[in-house]
Amino acid sequence: MQAARMIGPDVAPPAMCYYEPLKGSGGKCRACLVKVTAGSEKDPRPMPKLVPACITAVQDGMIVENTVNEQVLETRKGIVEFLLLNHPLDCPVCDQAGECHLQDFSFEHGVSSTRTVEERNTFEPVDLGENIKLNMNRCILCYRCVYTADQITDGRVHGVMHRGDHAEISTYIEKAIDNDFSGNVIDVCPVGALTDKTYRFKSRVWFSKPMDAHCSCDKCSGNVTLWYRGDEVIRVTGRKNEWGELKEFICNTCRFDRKKTSDWVIEGPTNVSRHSVISANKYGAGLIKPAFPIAQAARDYKLIEDDRDRSFLTNQASLPAKK
Ligand code: SF4
Ligand code: FES
Repeated sequence: MQAARMIGPDVAPPAMCYYEPLKGSGGKCRACLVKVTAGSEKDPRPMPKLVPACITAVQDGMIVENTVNEQVLETRKGIVEFLLLNHPLDCPVCDQAGECHLQDFSFEHGVSSTRTVEERNTFEPVDLGENIKLNMNRCILCYRCVYTADQITDGRVHGVMHRGDHAEISTYIEKAIDNDFSGNVIDVCPVGALTDKTYRFKSRVWFSKPMDAHCSCDKCSGNVTLWYRGDEVIRVTGRKNEWGELKEFICNTCRFDRKKTSDWVIEGPTNVSRHSVISANKYGAGLIKPAFPIAQAARDYKLIEDDRDRSFLTNQASLPAKK
């Protein structure tokens, strides 16, 4: 995975559970499966099965097929379907919409129909402490939040309970996550399962403007992204790199309690390097070149199959012709 990332985003496999700053992450979601057609210079035999790029060590002479191999592309469709087995299609009301990795993954690699007929697992939303809400319905069991709590907080009190279809993120006997760095589980969650209660339902992310800012904090680096709606700071998050991974973990005081512009030294507009709806239409013509979104739209255009029954519509002539 890291070798592919060094080449560039067009080559890097998708990742739903791997998170470079977290030791031991990866190997859970299978989003990054690739075909190794030659193992190494010394042993050029192909690997018999697809392997997860995030936990496979690179070797001299290794040949990896990721973007063109039919088996890989077909498998990814299945992985999307699998991750969506229990995931609700509540993007219109989910705070993560617009910055959700599962949304991107299913758009880029999924199919537009589902074969699921089974009932989805459903859970009631749970408060994990004062500022974090868990919507277990949306969780894809990537374990990132568990590793985060393990590696950057003093005592992890949540984890994955049960196994298989019964698995769920839980704090043992509803014990709250309560320590200075617990809010980082929100930033590492690739979907909208862990959300910031101070931000929930305040705005769609594409209506907010991200700005880099810092403060002198005695608990963390104080380097954050402020999310503005108009003049109001509606959310504070850690800064992320082009892979959507945190550059630094921030403390809860910066995240939840410093919501005034006067609390911060503003550095300027955040450069959102991951292709994203967030970077569109934000700072005027100077920063976003019109050619960029047009080229991206042309490259990523995808015909959505729409087989819905339209017979209930009386004026069929007003609909665009189905291609
Ligand atoms: S809550 Fe989010 S980060 Fe934690 S396991 Fe589920 S999807 Fe992953
Ligand atoms: S990103 Fe490799 S298995 Fe999840």
